[in-house]
Amino acid sequence: MKLIQTIPELKALRARWRAAGERVALVPTMGNLHAGHLSLVEQVQTGADRTVVSIFVNPLQFAPGEDFDRYPRTLADDLAKLDPLAPDVVFAPSVDEIYPQGYPIATNVVVNGLVERFCGEFRAGHFVGAATVVTILLNLVQPEQAIFGEKDYQQLLVFRRMARDLHLPVEILSGPTVREANGLAMSSRNRYLSDEERASAAVLRQQLVATGRALRAGHRDFAALEQAARVQLRAAGFAPQYFNILSPELEPATSQHSDFVVLAAAVLGAARLIDNIRLDDPALAA
Ligand code: PAF
Repeated sequence: MKLIQTIPELKALRARWRAAGERVALVPTMGNLHAGHLSLVEQVQTGADRTVVSIFVNPLQFAPGEDFDRYPRTLADDLAKLDPLAPDVVFAPSVDEIYPQGYPIATNVVVNGLVERFCGEFRAGHFVGAATVVTILLNLVQPEQAIFGEKDYQQLLVFRRMARDLHLPVEILSGPTVREANGLAMSSRNRYLSDEERASAAVLRQQLVATGRALRAGHRDFAALEQAARVQLRAAGFAPQYFNILSPELEPATSQHSDFVVLAAAVLGAARLIDNIRLDDPALAA
């Protein structure tokens, strides 16, 4: 496992891999790695000759007033966690390396429509910043595959749409959400929760499961289901931002749809948590 922090070094290695005909997979992250990230690394390693994990806390995707300054930067710990998986490269550039002219930059990748809704409504510029840096990382690493976690469902759709619209020569893969024992989706931001909040945080997953079960049982009063979940979230101390039953493409659900995703974001204490459920989630089978 080689730590690379400069673009010329990365490009030189990438050129050698290309000359050898090796297939490369990229796992973009902002570091502070947890079991969810590690499972993405393991997943792509099965299909690629070379794996690159990028660690870059991207200033462009933090809205004004968000946690960019205090976002955990834990490179030494991250390297120790990756070591047993032995990806070929950990690419951990500085902000100056990625944005040598400073930021914001003049060029942005905007996936119209998708970026303004749900999380986009509460995090100004977030998806544009994320899509822009992922485009930069894809250009630098030039992987055949890149993988993202399904916890960030809207983000995943943004990247899929971006890759399709721009004919990017990369296959976008996704990996399932990894959860704590109480069902809380793993996230670097969970560290902002107190022990007590971490226990209450399980209610978000519980409400998603309850809604998913109701949908599977044939309930179609979407507004009533959403409202019931919001009430339960408030009772558990959350300030819900949205809790929506949607088509898998994130259009408003109608009774004509046979498949759904339930998408949620809620603030608990100092943490903003997001999660979602699809109707094929194993928890709904029980
Ligand atoms: O999901 C994340 O951690 C980030 O949005 C990503 C994809 C690494 C881009 O900075």
